[in-house]
Amino acid sequence: MKVIVTNSYDESCAVVAGMIRDLVNAKPNAKLGLATGGTPVPIYQKLAQMNQAGEVDFSQVHTVNLDEYCGLPGTHEQSYRYFMNTHLFHKININHANTYVPNGTEPDAEKACQAYNELLHKIGPADIQILGLGHDGHIGFNEPSDHFENETDCVDLTETTIQANKRFFDSEKDVPKQAYTMGIGTIMRCRKILVVVSGKDKAEILKQVIQGPVTPEVPGSILQFHPDCMIIADEAALSEMAV
Ligand code: GLP
Repeated sequence: MKVIVTNSYDESCAVVAGMIRDLVNAKPNAKLGLATGGTPVPIYQKLAQMNQAGEVDFSQVHTVNLDEYCGLPGTHEQSYRYFMNTHLFHKININHANTYVPNGTEPDAEKACQAYNELLHKIGPADIQILGLGHDGHIGFNEPSDHFENETDCVDLTETTIQANKRFFDSEKDVPKQAYTMGIGTIMRCRKILVVVSGKDKAEILKQVIQGPVTPEVPGSILQFHPDCMIIADEAALSEMAV
């Protein structure tokens, strides 16, 4: 695990956007693993600007997203499909058919997970996977648990996650209670992982992820075992530890 300390959240996002641009320029048909949540928004803004300025071409890129809320169609403003369309896909020259997000409207969890797994097997490991970090240490929507899930799973969101994500919804009761998420095993098989963490409110959990024991109770701690994982964090997020 390599830790990159930046002066600001914006600098963290610029570092990650630059790494993605360089990957796609070197490998035009790169596979990108993408994340949602508030953290990656400026990364997507920067990629859209780079694309519009002719600095990077996404026409042959494939993307796979980490997760989706159960029950939300892609037209719902809080679905992760809608998020990706508005923040990135509609702003770059990607082929929409090459962008994948789990199907939140499939009520049969087994079917939904199996379909996403088949797709992930077909596409193969992402060249770069972007991750944010939940306040309870979740990556994707892999919540604290007694085991690490290998492949796509239907998870019950924790109270901490529901509280953290209610800011995007009209009220707490509108936050879905379950989500489909890429498994920890799939995430760990990605070639390179970039984790962006910002702000003092993530400092305690980030310390556990980087320096604590590897345990499914802190899902992000498994990243200590990844051969090419970078944490890109501002000083506030690293304020609980000496780096
Ligand atoms: C969300 C997403 C995660 C994200 C995390 C942190 O619920 N499922 O992929 O990394 O929680 O979100 P934020 O960046 O808004 O703090």
